[in-house]
Amino acid sequence: MQSYPIQIGYLGVGRYLPPNILTNAHLERMVETSDEWIVQRTGIHERRIMGEGESVLSMATAAAREALDRAGISANQITDVRVGVNTHLRWPSLATMVQNELGIDDGTASDISAGCSAYIFCVDSIYQKMMTEWLLEGKKSYALAIGVDGLSLITDWTDRQTCVLFGDGAGAAVIGPVESGGILATTTRAQGKYGDLLYLTPYIKPSLDDPEKMTFHTRTGTIEPLIYMEGRKVFPVAVRSMMAEIKTVIEKHNRISGESLTLDDIEYVIPHQANHRIVSAVAEGLKLPLEQVYSEGVVKYGNNSAASIPIGYVENIGKRPGALEVDVAFGAGFASGAILRRNPS
Ligand code: COA
Repeated sequence: MQSYPIQIGYLGVGRYLPPNILTNAHLERMVETSDEWIVQRTGIHERRIMGEGESVLSMATAAAREALDRAGISANQITDVRVGVNTHLRWPSLATMVQNELGIDDGTASDISAGCSAYIFCVDSIYQKMMTEWLLEGKKSYALAIGVDGLSLITDWTDRQTCVLFGDGAGAAVIGPVESGGILATTTRAQGKYGDLLYLTPYIKPSLDDPEKMTFHTRTGTIEPLIYMEGRKVFPVAVRSMMAEIKTVIEKHNRISGESLTLDDIEYVIPHQANHRIVSAVAEGLKLPLEQVYSEGVVKYGNNSAASIPIGYVENIGKRPGALEVDVAFGAGFASGAILRRNPS
């Protein structure tokens, strides 16, 4: 196995899922749909929805605290907080608010909006920066990558095509120097030409009375930004893009390391939990047995956007020591990306 001069990886992961469960039976009472249709088309049985006192900030902070605890790192050792989020439509950035909640009073913090791939984009930027600082300045540091979304805030609860798909949640990882395993390569991509297939309707100004409601007042009235999606057209691009990202990240690693890894060397894939049919189509397209692909999250939590991959990590803690794994995501923009990493042995 090739060895890098430095190893950067995960020291601890965490997540937060609201306790409030929205089942398919609940949705049957809200729109014209059925448990059978939802399960057959998406694999989703239930999803978590934020309740009183919960917000993207509270979820992100809770996930970050759990990741820090597992890593055995204190918040004030963190010098970079990056939050992948699509549902924090106000200032200051969510990352700076998390930084404040955790009592971190120095370092840097910023948000990344890249649809459901936003967590991967966070890890990619942290990894590139850490590599550069370590190699050029000899500086070692710790960072937090967080993926969080409260899609229930912007879901159109009258649109049966989209409202059955989404849920809320947060996941986080502490990234820093590791003894074994670690990140081997990352890749990101965006295809803006598909922007009109999946987007949030425009907004002007946040409501002052209840910012969590995501209601925006314009000169001519009030609008609520809502998700718009042409699901049937999104589906094939999602599958193609995720398959391509997995191949790209392996090729990138091979170029950097001189190794000749192939898909056969990948022991497990954690894909964005968009829906079960997308996950299965990616597995089938790459000839990967479904047992090697994480797909349990979507059943219990639906598509929780930027949070779905780090939420999946928590369910996989301690499994497959030393295994070579890929995380892959796709979402609005159409932004996609992948992380190739080795589990600690
Ligand atoms: N319950 C019952 N019927 C529904 C329904 C629901 N929740 N949503 C749509 N339908 C109906 C449609 O009205 C349509 O009826 P019609 O044939 O009488 O016109 C029929 O089911 C088929 O609709 P269609 O949209 O073509 O279904 P589909 O097989 O494409 O499945 C999705 C819909 C959204 C599940 C599927 O397109 C999909 O998974 N797309 C990708 C979405 C995604 O994951 N996006 C996020 C990427 S990060």
